[in-house]
Amino acid sequence: MAGTSTGWYQVARATAVGTTPVPVGAGGRSYVLVRLRPGAEISAFPARCPHRLVPLAGATVAEGRLQCPAHGWRFDGEGRCVDVPSLGPAGCPPPRADLPMPWAVEERHGWVWLAPDRTGTPGPPRPGAAPVLEPVPGTPAPRGGVFGNLDPSLEHAWHPVALARELRPGGWLQVRLLGRTWTVRRDGPALAADPPAFGVRERLGVVWLAPREALDVALEVPEAGDRRFVGNWLAPVRSPGPAGPLADTVLDATHGPFVHASTVGALDSPEVGPYEVRTEPGGFSSVQEQWVDNPVDPEVATGGRPLRQRRRTTYTYRAPFQLRLRQDFLDTGATTTIVYLLQPEDHDSTRIYVRLLLSDGPGQPLVTPATAAARLALQGQILAEDVRSQEALLLDGLPLDRRDEVHVPADARGVALRQALCTFMVARRRQPAA
Ligand code: FES
Ligand SMILES: [Fe+2]
Repeated sequence: MAGTSTGWYQVARATAVGTTPVPVGAGGRSYVLVRLRPGAEISAFPARCPHRLVPLAGATVAEGRLQCPAHGWRFDGEGRCVDVPSLGPAGCPPPRADLPMPWAVEERHGWVWLAPDRTGTPGPPRPGAAPVLEPVPGTPAPRGGVFGNLDPSLEHAWHPVALARELRPGGWLQVRLLGRTWTVRRDGPALAADPPAFGVRERLGVVWLAPREALDVALEVPEAGDRRFVGNWLAPVRSPGPAGPLADTVLDATHGPFVHASTVGALDSPEVGPYEVRTEPGGFSSVQEQWVDNPVDPEVATGGRPLRQRRRTTYTYRAPFQLRLRQDFLDTGATTTIVYLLQPEDHDSTRIYVRLLLSDGPGQPLVTPATAAARLALQGQILAEDVRSQEALLLDGLPLDRRDEVHVPADARGVALRQALCTFMVARRRQPAA
């Protein structure tokens, strides 16, 4: 955030501000203007939510409060955080969740005036004949730096660069990785890269490339070799942002009711109970149980089982960007495993590989191709919602300084991700240059 900016800034026509946030700039800082009820006075909020720095330009107004689009934190007209859904109705938002509000905002002569800091002039001046509005500055970056897609430590890891089926025998592909273009060839059983790399290999149905000596720990996916599971890949998609925040989203169990409201999240309970994170070589794992609706269980339709069922999710993370989510439906015995592998292509581009592995449980027939196709299509919609949330984020990477964000107990995996990437970064930077 910029330093002290005294004085009043004419920032928008009052008629342009309703209950949808309007981004404005004042004194080199970014704000959003909004009326918390139709026709109410205008409030000015900082441009980013303090939780995960999501731009509040995408916020909505609900019950006279500003609601962040990512995890539903709500702020009143004074900037006080009054609701953190993951804490439950009795939860108390941490004090750091309150927003640093501008000193004053006023509507005068049909214009909105904003004073970011205390100023000697108690009210805004009369407007000039030709008002000059400041350009809206970019949404501010975190102060402590971020882990971006071009971090040098990423040279020392295996990265997915293509699905194995995208590289035919005798064929070649051009791929982007860490801001460079590589040509990957398949010659018989051998894989090669140009420019030369530490290694190219095939694993889990994916072609992997390690630019320099790789010391990361490979993600294990036992379901991939289990005959009771039917596995399918989504067509790879791109996110116009870095991989770190995307991995954070995959590990986050609190955005469902807000980001996935139109697919699977609407009825998820926003409250998240306590869970643990276990450190493991190369990353961590975490087990969490939740009540969810399970409409794909055929016995729900016949009344044999209730719609609301218990689900245990096991999250496994391996640095830098390999993730596995195993969802066990405890009432039915069915299991869904989702593997996410992220390719850091450029500073603002990440290619995403998602594999869905399905089992209806021990003793059950294999999931049919029609069911698998329908589930894959749904997974594609869920992924598209996550990618849209990344588009709106406008961050160059994952913030690693804990003071740049506000963490609540439901964020334990997110905190572990930041720690794991710090460890990864420090350890790999000790590696000698090629
Ligand atoms: S509630 Fe705003 S980023 Fe999480
Ligand atoms: Fe999501």
